[in-house]
Amino acid sequence: MQFILLSGSFHSNSRSLAIIEALKPFFDEHTIKVPQLNELPIYCEDIASDKPTIIGDFLSELEAAHGILFCTPEYNHSIPAVLKNAIDWASRPAFNSVLKNMPVSFITQAASPVGGARAQAHLKLILDSTLADIHICHEMMITGVDKIFDQEMTITDQNVVRRLERHVEGFIKFSEERFKRTDT
Ligand SMILES: Cc1cc2nc3c(=O)[nH]c(=O)nc-3n(C[C@H](O)[C@H](O)[C@H](O)COP(=O)(O)O)c2cc1C
Repeated sequence: MQFILLSGSFHSNSRSLAIIEALKPFFDEHTIKVPQLNELPIYCEDIASDKPTIIGDFLSELEAAHGILFCTPEYNHSIPAVLKNAIDWASRPAFNSVLKNMPVSFITQAASPVGGARAQAHLKLILDSTLADIHICHEMMITGVDKIFDQEMTITDQNVVRRLERHVEGFIKFSEERFKRTDT
């Protein structure tokens, strides 16, 4: 199966990208892609009718996917604009986009003790509007994120590694079951 991992940040010290890096071994039997959402233009109806190639390529990747896993920080009690912009592009045509029935799952992280809980709640609400298939599970939030890495941004907190592995395993199973349901 093919999975898309979407990060909510792209700076050189991105914890979200570092967590995505740590998730890769858990998808070893599958193909994964990590689109550079920071390169997408801001959604505008004027260009939506004649989509730039980069948007066409992004939508094709989503269309071929069997599941999308989001990993994002919280920005001002919500999700970063770069992620919302990507979802806006992917969400058209309304209720019949590439996101319809797409298995989606979420990981949020923050330095704070809240772990991006508000961003996660907003993501669910936003994805709900697209008729995506939300992976209901123990919510995966990482609190105190700055304490889980070493200097090379490798996760050294084995409890977090185990929780991430369990989350990915659950999501892969959820996505497999969803595609089995569609095939029958
Ligand atoms: C513009 C901005 C807004 C932020 N707002 C919040 C917030 O509302 N809640 C929170 O817990 N952290 C907030 N933070 C902190 C980041 O979410 C946090 O440091 C996170 O770990 C950064 O993840 P990243 O390295 O993937 O970008 C904010 C950071 C920025 C730059």
